[in-house]
Amino acid sequence: MTNLKLSSIALCCAAYPLLLNAQETPAASWEGNTVDSVVKITGSDEFGSAGTSVYTPEIRENMRDLYKHKFGLFVHWGPYAQLEGIWNGKEVSAEWIMRRGEIPVADYEREAAAKFMPHQFDASEWVDIAEQAGMGFIVLTAKHHDGFAMYDSAHPYDIVDFAGFGRDVFKELSEECAQRGMDLGFYYSQSQDWHEEGGAGNSWDFGSVLKPQDKFDAYFEEKAILQVDELTRNYGDIFMVWFDTPLQMDDEKCQEMMDLVRKNQPGALVNSRLGKGYGHFDVSIDNGKTPSVSKATWLPDLKVPWQTHESVTQRGWGYTSYGGENDRSDEYTEFIYSLCRIVAYGGVYLLNVAPRPDGTIPESQVNSITAIGDWLKVNGEAIYDADPSPLKFPPYAITSKPGKVYLHLEELEKGKVELEGLLSKVKNAYCLADTSKTPLKFKQKKSRLSVRVPESLQQPRVTVVVLEIADQVARVVDETIQQAKDGSIDLPVAKCEYAVRRISYDYEEQATANWGGKTNQGLVWTVNVKEPGTFRIFTEDNGDEDLSFELSSPTETVVVRPGGPEGEMSKKRQGTIKVDQAGVVRITAYPKDTISWFNNFHLKAVRLVPEK
Ligand code: GLC
Repeated sequence: MTNLKLSSIALCCAAYPLLLNAQETPAASWEGNTVDSVVKITGSDEFGSAGTSVYTPEIRENMRDLYKHKFGLFVHWGPYAQLEGIWNGKEVSAEWIMRRGEIPVADYEREAAAKFMPHQFDASEWVDIAEQAGMGFIVLTAKHHDGFAMYDSAHPYDIVDFAGFGRDVFKELSEECAQRGMDLGFYYSQSQDWHEEGGAGNSWDFGSVLKPQDKFDAYFEEKAILQVDELTRNYGDIFMVWFDTPLQMDDEKCQEMMDLVRKNQPGALVNSRLGKGYGHFDVSIDNGKTPSVSKATWLPDLKVPWQTHESVTQRGWGYTSYGGENDRSDEYTEFIYSLCRIVAYGGVYLLNVAPRPDGTIPESQVNSITAIGDWLKVNGEAIYDADPSPLKFPPYAITSKPGKVYLHLEELEKGKVELEGLLSKVKNAYCLADTSKTPLKFKQKKSRLSVRVPESLQQPRVTVVVLEIADQVARVVDETIQQAKDGSIDLPVAKCEYAVRRISYDYEEQATANWGGKTNQGLVWTVNVKEPGTFRIFTEDNGDEDLSFELSSPTETVVVRPGGPEGEMSKKRQGTIKVDQAGVVRITAYPKDTISWFNNFHLKAVRLVPEK
């Protein structure tokens, strides 16, 4: 099994660089809600199965725009906002409140949907906010899992008709966006629909999470397909269609959806959560962070970014009275740095706001995103249309453009920034925020660079140092992990690649977070082995007795069962593994069994020490 995994990765890398991230799983998660914890998806679900032919000229044009925008506004808004997260006097959940509270359809209709009259909604204010945040596109939840359409649908459970609100908010938003040159997309929950008998998810009214095939088929054809048809026909240019939680999606359904979107909106970019590897760009797990730069989905002539998303609210994606208006001014730097990091690793950032039931976006949320906009006004050059870091494992956020490298620094210890690994000759260095481009003093010796940044030029949040280099494309050192002189091989997670983008990484801990929801969520290290042999295995992790993973070299696969003291990082000895092959090899770690989201297992490193 593991050898199979290994060889398929090796094959993909050699023959099909575009699919380096094979075995992509369109799992989605939120507050412990992974698709996997609901049901195990079987069959092939690798991102990229739709093939390169989906990148038509219209798609390419929008993909280039997405690459330029880098930053978009996600909006989770629907009748759940009306409940503000509270059911029967208890804090239950945000947009998942219906499911978490097992609220019967009739009660949800009465208490949430029938009362949802967002009279204060003003599309122009929303677009103002996105503009001030420096964002290039907006994605609104046109229908979330609760099944309520936020536009004028032929289906009566919609914002115009159900409560008699009479206004089509998506229409208003689409017109405003068209006028203002803001790209617009919509989120659509194609599988989960807790309002319908045949939609996935509602077990409390309709008996089971997954539905009998005939019922699901009927729901899919009679609601999901019809609504996506309406949404892609009646609202002008659609930039992006963001599907989610692809329960019960098979190849035919994914293909049918792709064809429909393409027929009505030839340029609309579809995300990978449509299911089964379909779509135009890959989405990480919610809040997905990564330790390495990934250009895995780039085509030879098109940069296809991946996307990750976070919320400026705390406790979910939709509005709650607890956590929906928290002041997060202490974290503005973190939000800004998230954007820098995501772009540095080759991604695009979708940042979520959760409007109140009346349609207004709380000031605290607006402040969080416009703080990023203020920073972008000065430092946008290092983000918009920027390429990722030339180093695959950058020590901090680094982006690049032809002839330039941008170092994004949250802190400058002793007024200095160091960089190891850049080979291109630095011609000049200055701070991006410094309009007079005062040259910074720097020293460069082989691959070592040190730049002095006087305090007067440092920025309050993130300082960007621009390096003008002698090459168009920065040259860097070989980052392959080298076997140490004493024969040991260090495999830190900080220096691995993900086989699929369904893992998250903790930058502080330098360890995995939420690793192993599925057995294809592998970690891959590329190592230059000089002295093959048998090695003792040590793992640095926080322990979890339920967990085991398969560690594979080209020679052997062994099962590692961490189980150190729970919660604490420990280095534990774990048996031995043979690495019989010299030269550049791949060593991988794959969860042996599905590790549930609730296993709080963090892996920091594997270390191989030659057996004497
Ligand atoms: C998850 C959740 C959903 C949320 C989404 C955001 O899939 O089910 O509530 O919309 O993530 O990415």
